[in-house]
Amino acid sequence: MSLMRVEEYLLKPKLQQSISKLLRTCFSQYPPHRTYLSQLPDFRLLWFSDEGTLLGHLAAEHRIMNANGAPVRVFGVADLCVLPESRKEGIATGLLHAVESLGRENRVEFVVLAAADQSWFARRGYQPVNGNFKWLMIHENQSLGIASRRLSQTIMIKPLGDTPWTEGPVDFLGHIF
Ligand SMILES: CC(C)(COP(=O)(O)OP(=O)(O)OC[C@H]1O[C@@H](n2cnc3c(N)ncnc32)[C@H](O)[C@@H]1OP(=O)(O)O)[C@@H](O)C(=O)NCCC(=O)NCCS
Repeated sequence: MSLMRVEEYLLKPKLQQSISKLLRTCFSQYPPHRTYLSQLPDFRLLWFSDEGTLLGHLAAEHRIMNANGAPVRVFGVADLCVLPESRKEGIATGLLHAVESLGRENRVEFVVLAAADQSWFARRGYQPVNGNFKWLMIHENQSLGIASRRLSQTIMIKPLGDTPWTEGPVDFLGHIF
């Protein structure tokens, strides 16, 4: 098994195809032949078997968000997924730990994500953030406008350092990861 970090602009077409295939396997609604839903990430963490098969994937974006009026440095995580036959071996947890370590080493204050299964992330130290959110809505490569509304049971964060998350309105300053 090996873990690889790849900057998005360095992705070769063959690896892009493997990622797209994995995303379609894990998320049946994922657009075919695509490796992003709203926007390209900054980098990806990829987990390979000893034979070189892509087993796990996490996309990360480095961004400033606005939490209750203050800028916070975050890694936004998207498309965390593992090949069905390789689940329950700790791969997704390992990918999350890797992005959290990278953040801690580089003054990133929080990991932020939209969680389909909140309890899974809560067991890994993530906290739900409920309240008023603002974000850029993107669909099929088009900006649809700024959404401003209350969200609950969706967004979760994990502090990477001593700074606690301040409750209050949240502006994603972009799309939701
Ligand atoms: C959610 C998902 C990413 C989890 O991937 P995974 O690699 O199976 O996750 P992990 O192995 O790290 O953890 C899963 C469980 O297996 C258990 N596990 C981990 N290693 C284990 C091992 N060696 N033996 C037995 N159980 C193990 C973990 O304890 C964990 O259980 P818990 O949630 O009760 O703590 C995967 O199911 C998936 O791709 N789902 C579809 C896409 C999706 O929903 N993504 C999340 C988007 S928010």
